[in-house]
Amino acid sequence: MKLDEIPEFLHGGDYNPDQWLDRPDILEDDIRLMKQAGVNCVSVGIFAWSALEPQEGVFRFEWLDRLMDSMYENGIHVILATPSAARPPWMAKKYPEVMRTDANRVRQLYGGRENHCESSKIWREKVRIIDEELSRRYARHPALVMWHLSNEFYGHCYCETCAANFRKWLRHRYGTIENLNRKYWSAFWSHGYSDFDEIEPPAPNGERQLHALTLDYDRFWNDLLNDFVEMEKAAVLKYGPDVPVTTNMHNMNCGVDYYKQAKHLDRISWDSYPRWHCQADKSTEWENAVGAGFTFDYARSLKHAPFYLMESAPSVPSQFEFCKLKRPGMHMLSSLQAIAHGADSVQYFQWRKSRGAVEKFHGAVVSHDGSGDTRVFRDVSEVGQKLKELSWLKGRPEISEAAVIYDYENLQALLQQVGLRRDKSFFEKLPRAHYEALLKNFVNVDVIGAEDDLSRYKLVAAPALYLFRPDTAQRIRSFVEQGGTFVMTCYSGLADENDLAFAGTLSRPEFAPHGLNDVFGLRVKEIDGLCDDEYREIEYRGKLYKALVCCELTEPAAGAGSETSGTAGAAPARCLAVYRQDFYSGTCAAAEHDFGKGRAYYMACHAEADFLRDFYSDALDAAGVKRLTESRGVGDVILRERDGVLFAMNFSTQPRTVRIGGRDVTLPGYGYEIVG
Ligand code: GLA
Ligand code: ZN
Repeated sequence: MKLDEIPEFLHGGDYNPDQWLDRPDILEDDIRLMKQAGVNCVSVGIFAWSALEPQEGVFRFEWLDRLMDSMYENGIHVILATPSAARPPWMAKKYPEVMRTDANRVRQLYGGRENHCESSKIWREKVRIIDEELSRRYARHPALVMWHLSNEFYGHCYCETCAANFRKWLRHRYGTIENLNRKYWSAFWSHGYSDFDEIEPPAPNGERQLHALTLDYDRFWNDLLNDFVEMEKAAVLKYGPDVPVTTNMHNMNCGVDYYKQAKHLDRISWDSYPRWHCQADKSTEWENAVGAGFTFDYARSLKHAPFYLMESAPSVPSQFEFCKLKRPGMHMLSSLQAIAHGADSVQYFQWRKSRGAVEKFHGAVVSHDGSGDTRVFRDVSEVGQKLKELSWLKGRPEISEAAVIYDYENLQALLQQVGLRRDKSFFEKLPRAHYEALLKNFVNVDVIGAEDDLSRYKLVAAPALYLFRPDTAQRIRSFVEQGGTFVMTCYSGLADENDLAFAGTLSRPEFAPHGLNDVFGLRVKEIDGLCDDEYREIEYRGKLYKALVCCELTEPAAGAGSETSGTAGAAPARCLAVYRQDFYSGTCAAAEHDFGKGRAYYMACHAEADFLRDFYSDALDAAGVKRLTESRGVGDVILRERDGVLFAMNFSTQPRTVRIGGRDVTLPGYGYEIVG
């Protein structure tokens, strides 16, 4: 059956029969238990290479043949993985160059997973051969609904072959070494290169000073990875071109630029492991849910289409500092949250617990007791039932009028900055802080890249959009000009795509945000960094809030740089919030400016969560963004709308009341209501 023709949400997960090949009785139990649990889909073969090719060129497909057939006979769909996330020992022994070399230039020994050299010709060749074999046998098998490439691509390789490929990539990008020297500002610390051959990838014990080089190595490696993805994709599609291809994404900052990778995939899949109930980092369940929602909205926005929740823990994951059981109600709630944010599946890692090795205590639908007589198994079965009831929602879209920009390259540039503060982890959390404020205001939100089409939104928030590509300023300008509301925050528009600071001259001075002084009606003159426990009071609509981390000193700019308009942009920004402390007391901490048909807000500081909530409440109303309830200020609840259906979810143990469609609805602790 074709993936899109399946009339139900997918429910199931990673299934490793290759670990139980000597136990046909267990494999029979699995089928029985899957039916009981309402499982209709399994992901197979993810780490099965040594079961499929135990010796070089010796293939064993009989077990997989039997499995595919029996899944089909039992009405269970199969997402078939390529085994390229982990290799058999014979390969590393015979071809050690398949193993990854780390940034210190140490090649890894056999072991682990997702640690290969994507440049290695023999690695690519071995992957292509096994993928084509899988395609030859199963591309037309009726159980197959999707190909799953590898597993959680991750990190970079720094071997000599990768370095040589990087130099080729640089020649292609820059043409001449003089051009590269200019773009890299390489006169700094005597870095002027005379030949591309002198360029080394970044290293902890070597080159770390040229920010353009670090960004480029990351870009090069993502291009290399996407080329690898294309190779795997062509191989699995060789004998059946109609099957969609995905890979499971897992971490928004793991070395893979998902925004770019998404273009090489047919479907987006996401693995989600919130630390439910763990008090170690003091986060509430609502905050954990916001974190999960942020990644779901990112996954959905990558293709503006439903995504697959490919992995989640049915009970307790084993890799955390503290491993807490999911409290009663949480499994249903967290699974429905994924559906509410646009998932077309609830899949687990893992179906059955392994007996040995590092994940033997990782939560699974079937535990070591093998019985199915467990709370987890019953929770999973209930989710299976609920998903059946909601089947008609599968494939349905989710529309957001507001978006937050999370841009991978921008984050890499921010994280390598030396200035403002040493610990840059703040920047990693920043887009989520703005997202959280929008969720508190009960609106649907997309999480998009800076190059995404802005015109589909009424309001776009760009926290610390530091790196401007050649067209960034123009794209923001026309979005606002045409009626959009754009919110930009401190540390924005400071550097170009090579991380060179924008610089002006006497006759043409340059102030952040680059190229947009007339759009925002202000200029940034200085940036003050605050210590971790420091704050500066700011006043907004008669209330005091705390500015944290970064306080910019701005001045109004009447028509500055407004060669293009001379219309609405000619007036300076109106000050909305004012610093009330320090030598910049009385100057503007947040401002608004009408430009063209739209409005541009500039938040000159990073302010505490209450400020973000109140600020966005006003900005969303001014922009006419649809709220999902008339209620204001209800804590612990997430509301989402998917194709006209409202999901109200309470992540507190206590009841919460929220107004939905003109009536008060009380959600019990960890309870939910689906309306529409
Ligand atoms: C990841 C991997 C799985 C498994 C889980 C454990 O998501 O893809 O193979 O290791 O983590 O949580
Ligand atoms: Zn390499």
